[in-house]
Amino acid sequence: MITPIQGFSKLTKDQKIKWIAENYTSNTAHTTTLLERYWNTDAKVQKLHDEFIENTITNYYLPFGIAPNFLINDSLYAIPMVIEESSVVAAASKAAKFWLTRGGFKAQVLNTEKVGQVHFMYDGDADQITSFFKQLKPILKMDAALLTKNMEKRGGGILDIELRNKTKELKNYYQLHCTFETQDAMGANFINTCLEQFSKTLRREFDDSALNTQNKETLDIVMSILSNYVPNCIVKAEVSCPIEDLNEDKNIAPEVFAKKILRAVEIAKAEPFRAVTHNKGIMNGIDAVVLATGNDFRAVEAGVHAYAAKNGNYSSLTHASIENGIFKFWIEVPLALGTVGGLTSLHPLVKLALEILQKPSAQELMKITAVAGLAQNFAAVRSLVTTGIQEGHMKMHLMNILNQFEATESEKIALIDYFKKHTVSHSAVVEALAQLRHK
Ligand code: MEV
Repeated sequence: MITPIQGFSKLTKDQKIKWIAENYTSNTAHTTTLLERYWNTDAKVQKLHDEFIENTITNYYLPFGIAPNFLINDSLYAIPMVIEESSVVAAASKAAKFWLTRGGFKAQVLNTEKVGQVHFMYDGDADQITSFFKQLKPILKMDAALLTKNMEKRGGGILDIELRNKTKELKNYYQLHCTFETQDAMGANFINTCLEQFSKTLRREFDDSALNTQNKETLDIVMSILSNYVPNCIVKAEVSCPIEDLNEDKNIAPEVFAKKILRAVEIAKAEPFRAVTHNKGIMNGIDAVVLATGNDFRAVEAGVHAYAAKNGNYSSLTHASIENGIFKFWIEVPLALGTVGGLTSLHPLVKLALEILQKPSAQELMKITAVAGLAQNFAAVRSLVTTGIQEGHMKMHLMNILNQFEATESEKIALIDYFKKHTVSHSAVVEALAQLRHK
């Protein structure tokens, strides 16, 4: 029987490994060897990774790939992508090449506002708290002046602080709804530090005010935290070309192809079951860049999906139109990204990814990331409305299956050739490999 452990975090790394291997795995020696094999041979690099999180016992590798040939606002990028799914990097590269000869991608940042809130309960007169807030607002800013000084030097800071009455949604619920500009930082630390200061100031000023005359607690501050919903931190990326230029696939006429893409987008707008998968394809591109550049993919995911449902129905993040013979395909997406702070100057591969991207500002990274999402969606929808995705996907998947069964290089060559003419499925590959080995 396994018993709960006290003080796991205080054990050394070797002790942690021993404990997990002995208590939760069948082969202690194998587990230990496996975990140690994934350590970095450079002790300094390993220590860096150990300290990113708590209770680290090893590293978990994900492939770091490159999708080249992305022409974005007339500059040529090779986009680093970190993702475990086969076909994604190939699809991005294919879409990049397709649009390279059709004017490339155009991207622009529409706005960059970040949000944070102090949530509190107030059991009193709404007009009184409103006039109290008018006095409070300049004091909130003054008290945070030391915290915002450096950010202001970089052109950022607090944009506004509003009192919002949310008592219709929840009895006694109010908030300080605060907006920020954080320039090249994602800004989570800056925003949360400001909010916690706002909350202290609110408490102090309320306690000293005439509103605090009753015997009971009339103001209760619940929490202060940034919001990952950033509907005013939007980047737009688009591609367009005359319909007749959609002529790469000889099996489908350009007009038919354009209409099919349009229909696919319309379906994703009308049908949430499809929209979720459609947007998942977009996130294949977005998350891969977000991960490669050391940004917070959970924050991005949460914010993007909330935005996809902003009109009350979960819907497509991409849009398409055909007007006056021009096919246009675009995305508008909220992306709160940073190129300074966080992992950006710590993780050696994040630093490299940012270097490959020519050391972008946060706004440039927003554009590149949105383009990766748009490209991914174009590639997926293109396959879906023409050949279907399985053909390309299973070919890429073939390699994973062959690796899983430890196929030798010559077996791989033989089977890749064989599956040029046969349909790839897990069982077909296993069978073909068995037959090859039997020979
Ligand atoms: C698979 O990872 C992504 C797709 O399902 C996206 C889509 O259906 O649009 C191919």
